[in-house]
Amino acid sequence: MPKRLAFLILASALLWGQGGLVVSQDRQASLAGAAILSRGGNAVDAAVATAFALAVTHPAAGNLGGGGFLLSRNKDGKPAFLDFRETAPAAATADMFMKDGVYDEDLHHRSWRSVGVPGTVAGLHTAWKTQGRLPWRTLLEPAIRLARDGFPVSGTLAASLEGVREEFLKHPGSRKQFTRDGAPFAAGDLLRQEDLARTLERVAAQGPRGFYRGATARLIVAEMKAHGGLITLRDLAAYRCIPREPLKGSYRGLELLVGPPPCSGGTVLLEMLNILEGYDLKGPGVGSAATVHLAAEAMRRAFLDRARFLGDPGPAGFGAMPVPRLISKAYAAGLSKGIDPLRATPSGPEAVEEPLEPDHTTHLSVVDGEGAAVSLTYTLEDSYGSKIVVPGAGFLLNNEMGDFNAAPGLTDRLGRIGTRANLAAPGKRMLSSMCPTILLKGGKVWMVTGSPGGRTIPNTVLWTILWAVDGGLKAPDVVAAPRFHHQWLPDVLCFEKGRLSAELRSALEAMGHPLYERPYQGCAQVILAGEDGTFTGAADGRWADSFTARAEAAK
Ligand code: DON
Repeated sequence: MPKRLAFLILASALLWGQGGLVVSQDRQASLAGAAILSRGGNAVDAAVATAFALAVTHPAAGNLGGGGFLLSRNKDGKPAFLDFRETAPAAATADMFMKDGVYDEDLHHRSWRSVGVPGTVAGLHTAWKTQGRLPWRTLLEPAIRLARDGFPVSGTLAASLEGVREEFLKHPGSRKQFTRDGAPFAAGDLLRQEDLARTLERVAAQGPRGFYRGATARLIVAEMKAHGGLITLRDLAAYRCIPREPLKGSYRGLELLVGPPPCSGGTVLLEMLNILEGYDLKGPGVGSAATVHLAAEAMRRAFLDRARFLGDPGPAGFGAMPVPRLISKAYAAGLSKGIDPLRATPSGPEAVEEPLEPDHTTHLSVVDGEGAAVSLTYTLEDSYGSKIVVPGAGFLLNNEMGDFNAAPGLTDRLGRIGTRANLAAPGKRMLSSMCPTILLKGGKVWMVTGSPGGRTIPNTVLWTILWAVDGGLKAPDVVAAPRFHHQWLPDVLCFEKGRLSAELRSALEAMGHPLYERPYQGCAQVILAGEDGTFTGAADGRWADSFTARAEAAK
């Protein structure tokens, strides 16, 4: 037998024997996905089951009432990208967040008008329908069980629920579901979500009709009507998941698959990697001042382009945008000419303000025993979205309309952007920073990565790639290593608390970077292949419940 063929057979046997991995922000959800793999499901089946389970066990970001993106590569090497981002209701307008001629931040981010038409159920169903293997109902069973029978609240979840209890108390549906008659949940208490179990049952029995029509749709619209929200039955019935062509790029010989707009993360990531490919990062080291500076300059430039050019590419959106140019090597080479290796390029004379973007979304990474992979990020926008549980339906509504630009022309130093590309319009999808990513080496899946974190997302993904590729770190170290963030405006370079040495700080300050401390950056869930092709999952300890579950090897 030719050596190459023998190697291929051995490698496939190793992959097959491995049974697959699921890495997510919650133990029960990762186990649900791994159980699906063990039952013969593929990576998409496992991702769908994990996502439904997260909607029960990680309610801060796992969801039915939000939206997101699923990037996959099947066992035959075919990539696919599903856009199930929320849409603006038909009654939306560009100045819908203005009150008496003045921009109103509460209306934009914390009101029934902040709710976009949810996409998650349509997205997960399309994924299953086009790529799944096991019966639909089977994929919802773990979530239904967890919602109906309950599960013990972890210390992390108890603390997280307590952080928003005051807000839950304002909404009867939320009070009922996420407090004990107004009192906090303690670690170890059972959290049962019977209304949610019934909604999941309707989705299991009827598919998207169980969500976008009938009882669930009526419950959503009743909540909207009672509080001045805009979503109608017609908006819900009109929602569609959109398959899009994944964007392709490369970095130091690896191939990259990422998402196109309205997912901005992919374009931003490729633009940054293209810039950084022109420099030796291994020599100085990934954590060195030289590399952090160059990365900051790449981040700054890519985020400026995000603001200038990116939005919903669909008919309801902004139309054509120069994505092929933005992700080309030639464009990056031009940008690099403007980078001084020793000096920060100012974005503007900024005061250091709290970055606006909130911090909750969730990512899951899956590989199966046949070498297929899924990278899925979805969100309610803020932690627990709008904090509004739909009474009788048991799920939280997003506040994703906050991802549209605030108001025409309103660009300021806090990071508000008023450019046309991403203003609200009927049926339009708000621009997202989410960045599900798959890297290939020699035509095989090598790394699956992604993270929550608002505008920090593409940058967190960038750092996982830099640490893996240029730093040569193994999966757990890739996830544990420090991350940095720059988003053009505000003009500050963010670092993680306790992760910046005095030496690095003074070197970066000497180059002209105003520094800003964040408690932490993102929560990346990474799968990385070792030299022998076997995968290691690394769940990010920045959220203590993150967990890697391994499927039983196929017989
Ligand atoms: O789609 C987006 O870019 C944001 N709505 C994501 C929000 C988020 O990640 C908050 N994070 N952890």
